Amino acid sequence: MRFIGNRSSGKMGFAVADAARRMGAEVTLVAGPVSLPTPPGVTRVDVRRAAQMREAVLAALPGMDAYIGAAAVADYAPAETLPQKLKKSGESLAITLVRTADILADVAAHAARPRLVVGFAAETQDLEAYARDKLHRKGLDLIAANDVSRAGHGFEGDDNALSVFWRDGRHDIAHGPKTRVARDLLQLLADRLEAME
Ligand code: PMT
Repeated sequence: MRFIGNRSSGKMGFAVADAARRMGAEVTLVAGPVSLPTPPGVTRVDVRRAAQMREAVLAALPGMDAYIGAAAVADYAPAETLPQKLKKSGESLAITLVRTADILADVAAHAARPRLVVGFAAETQDLEAYARDKLHRKGLDLIAANDVSRAGHGFEGDDNALSVFWRDGRHDIAHGPKTRVARDLLQLLADRLEAME
């Protein structure tokens, strides 16, 4: 009845899954609670909580060439869940939150690590510095950063723009429909995979 969430619609992640499938990949889409149709030909696993997403992602890892983490996974989750509605009492309410596992970092460190591990970064300032810090800290091959403080970028809308960073490179994907942005990102990833061979 009550939960903590965020403004992610799933549109970016679903567009990435659809673009990958259209390029000929076998795609497993682990989706949080969003109301979007499954892209044709994509295997979908629905989850609600960060811990369930981690479990589903790790189970799907063996044999994967690439992992792309576009979900806005909670960094903290309530320490306690209740079987009934929490009734109001008093003027304030304190809820204890505990850190969730970092799925992306766990994938990058996993024995079944895909050849390409790609994160997203939702930033509101110092885009490149924060994105590069995540690239390094989480052990990623690439990170696609979006400036979610700008109207028409990131959460909820149909459009986005990305700056993609890797150890010694950068590529900007121009603002436009998430479907086209996803295609451009997938083309870049295909080029990077080829370059790694
Ligand atoms: O869903 P839309 O409405 O289309 O919006 C798209 C988007 C803004 C959600 C998407 O483009 C985006 O930026 N997704 C990542 C959002 C996010 O959680 O960013 P972050 O900087 O907090 O996390 C960095 C990376 O770590 C992400 O790849 C995230 O999936 C991953 N992460 C974070 C926390 C956690 N516990 N586990 C993770 O795997």
